[in-house]
Amino acid sequence: MKLLVFAVAAAWGLALLASAAIVEHTFHIENKIVKRMCHEQVIVVANGQFPGPTIHVTEGDNVIIHVLNNSPYNITLHWHGIYQRFTSWADGVEYITQCGIRNGHKFTYKFKVIGQEGTLFWHAHSFGLRATLHGAFIIHPRNGRYPFPKPYHQVPIILGDWYDTNFLDALEDALVVGGVAVSNAYTINGFPGDLFNCSQNQTFKMKVKHGKTYLLRIINAALNNNLFFKIANHKFTVVATDASYTKPYVTDIIILAAGQTLDVLFKADQPTGSYYMAASPYGVGMPPDLFDGTMTRGIVVYDGHNTRASRPIMPLLPPFFDTPTSFKLFSNLTSLIGAPHWVPVPPNVDERMFITVGIGLDMCPANVNCMGPLNQKFSANMNNESFVLPKGKGKSILEAFYYNVSGVYTTDFPDNPPTVFDYTYGNLTFNVSLIHSPKSTKVKKLKFNSTVEIVFQNTGVLKAQSHPMHIHGHSFHVLAQGFGNYNAVRDKKKFNLVNPQVRNTVAVPAGGWAVIRFQANNPGVWFVHCHVDDHQVWGLATAFVVENGPTPETSLPPPPADLPKC
Ligand code: C2O
Repeated sequence: MKLLVFAVAAAWGLALLASAAIVEHTFHIENKIVKRMCHEQVIVVANGQFPGPTIHVTEGDNVIIHVLNNSPYNITLHWHGIYQRFTSWADGVEYITQCGIRNGHKFTYKFKVIGQEGTLFWHAHSFGLRATLHGAFIIHPRNGRYPFPKPYHQVPIILGDWYDTNFLDALEDALVVGGVAVSNAYTINGFPGDLFNCSQNQTFKMKVKHGKTYLLRIINAALNNNLFFKIANHKFTVVATDASYTKPYVTDIIILAAGQTLDVLFKADQPTGSYYMAASPYGVGMPPDLFDGTMTRGIVVYDGHNTRASRPIMPLLPPFFDTPTSFKLFSNLTSLIGAPHWVPVPPNVDERMFITVGIGLDMCPANVNCMGPLNQKFSANMNNESFVLPKGKGKSILEAFYYNVSGVYTTDFPDNPPTVFDYTYGNLTFNVSLIHSPKSTKVKKLKFNSTVEIVFQNTGVLKAQSHPMHIHGHSFHVLAQGFGNYNAVRDKKKFNLVNPQVRNTVAVPAGGWAVIRFQANNPGVWFVHCHVDDHQVWGLATAFVVENGPTPETSLPPPPADLPKC
């Protein structure tokens, strides 16, 4: 449904009179039986679809989504990467910005999409429900023009994962023993692909015309893994990351950390035939215990090709632990100066934080056989604080902030780790002070419009893993990334202050660090967390509470009347 109102939009330096519309959807959330890999599973879906419906908007549009929850779980939906300026109430994070929509209840998310275009996605932000409750969120340019030649067609490619078991039960069990629920297959647009039993007809197929260029809108919606993606014999040109345009970057392979998106141009310029597209994990550690080591694939078929004539050509993917390839792809992207919505790096820093991110352990409850080393539970932390959601407090953090209620959270999240140590290489497994982090609900307060610079330093206290750090309500510049312990004197020289890539999720390298900078221009409460679901649940999270600005226009409005009660 589209209603037209008029607004003035500036595009490519021209002031154009353009129309902003209302994009309205209703999502019915319910259980559904879906068959994959020879078995039926009950999963939670929106409008009967897996993956869920794609939302198309034009930059500047108002979005209204009515969510009716008929599933047995408490649900929230989050619009991953949308700035939500002055609409923190619509960010959809359970216990952070709202309580879950209960069974039989509904809530309407209302927000405006402004200052960004490209590919994002929406997903459930309560328990593990985002495994099956997610979909693409595509923001089209207001003037219809891209900073690259107009593609012939656009194709969303959602990478996900599949659990050949009752996933939500398995996840609950995993939580008790402090371990992980490992998926059984990755998926492309919901299909595991023809390497799996009963999956010959559950393979994504993309038809192409020879000589045409396609815009692939690729999303990594998998719960716990970074994924390599390749199409045999073809090249990609990366043109956007996390809905920010990049300088065109040509490569034959891409990688997406959990929570990241990439827009890539793909030209069907090879001999008429069929070619596999394939995704496999980038992980440090070992499958099958710690992650799913399988490969998913789909098929690109050229018009006029007789699919019986030959088998599709298969691409060669890198080994799971290929950190050099992953680092190259993550670190070589730059933003496109002057592109729509491009912002220069804010020059003066008001707040500096140095935040360690890593995995540790937690004591095992009595009479339980825990899955982590030393028969303990896995835990995770930021600056040695292991975050717990304020369950059972009757209010989300945002409500507590807005109504000035104490006892839900504290504002003493530290700017630095409690101890300085050899973060990446120390063999500290038995140093109890570093391996056990206190559980807390500590957040960091930020002044409105302050410029924040953060060094995320990965730790190897238990095991080094890549952590895709995601910040809600803001995108940030990625100034530099590297390995070892961050050294301010040496590594400042590596900062790209001219055209750094802009992200909402940065993959902090295993055994390394990343430096980001952003302006806290949006009052409200913004979750900050590792987008690997397990790590977030183990405590690799905090929140930024951005204070109101000086005027009513720069302050957070009151909550919508239908905000779910706890
Ligand atoms: Cu897609 Cu809190 O994240």
